[in-house]
Amino acid sequence: MPLVAPSFLASNFLRLQDECDMINSSEADWLHLDVMDGRFVPNISFGLPIVEHIRKATNKPCDVHLMIEEPGKFAQDFKNAGADHLIVHYEVCPHLHRNIEQIKNLGMKAGVAINPHTPVHFLSDIIQDIDIVLIMSVNPGFGGQKFIPHTIDKIRALKQLLKEKGVDVLIEVDGGITVENAGALVHCGAEVLVAGNTIFKSADPRATIAKLKSL
Ligand code: DX5
Ligand code: ZN
Repeated sequence: MPLVAPSFLASNFLRLQDECDMINSSEADWLHLDVMDGRFVPNISFGLPIVEHIRKATNKPCDVHLMIEEPGKFAQDFKNAGADHLIVHYEVCPHLHRNIEQIKNLGMKAGVAINPHTPVHFLSDIIQDIDIVLIMSVNPGFGGQKFIPHTIDKIRALKQLLKEKGVDVLIEVDGGITVENAGALVHCGAEVLVAGNTIFKSADPRATIAKLKSL
């Protein structure tokens, strides 16, 4: 049974309290919060004040996905805003080990996200130090994009790498996940499913979460 992390990028920003209430009373495991800077990714989403307000409206862990350059500059701020997990992108961290140490020293779970073109084996010398790998199954920056099928091979490759290294790291997948394709992802090793549009734009979001949980 996968963990399910609804992505608030697809939520109704005018009704965040209602959206949090819906998530609180659902089977969702985490809240996934996408922070974008308009530099690393070609879009700007929301930042610290929104994370802080959402955090106060839920008891579930907040999984903060930073699609920003120089994430180390903001790690303390996101901790203060209530982030439980902080995920940084491999592509913007020349000193990734330092970023990971910083996040863990601040008392958060540390995750690394990889873009669709970044091979899983690039993580081979950091994998023992992290809690979560986030495999992007779309190019980061926007919700509602089409799932990239090659992701399936990357999930398998990551599973294999974890086995070789003998470490236990959560495999999270993000982007274009639907009720139709999620089963295959779980089957090949995905442990956390992030879903935005599939959940928030469905007629019955709680039922959709339950469906994803039952895979
Ligand atoms: C994309 C974000 C995703 C996004 C997923 O850059 O990282 O979390 O919200 O949205 P859907 O599930 O609609 O593809
Ligand atoms: Zn995300």
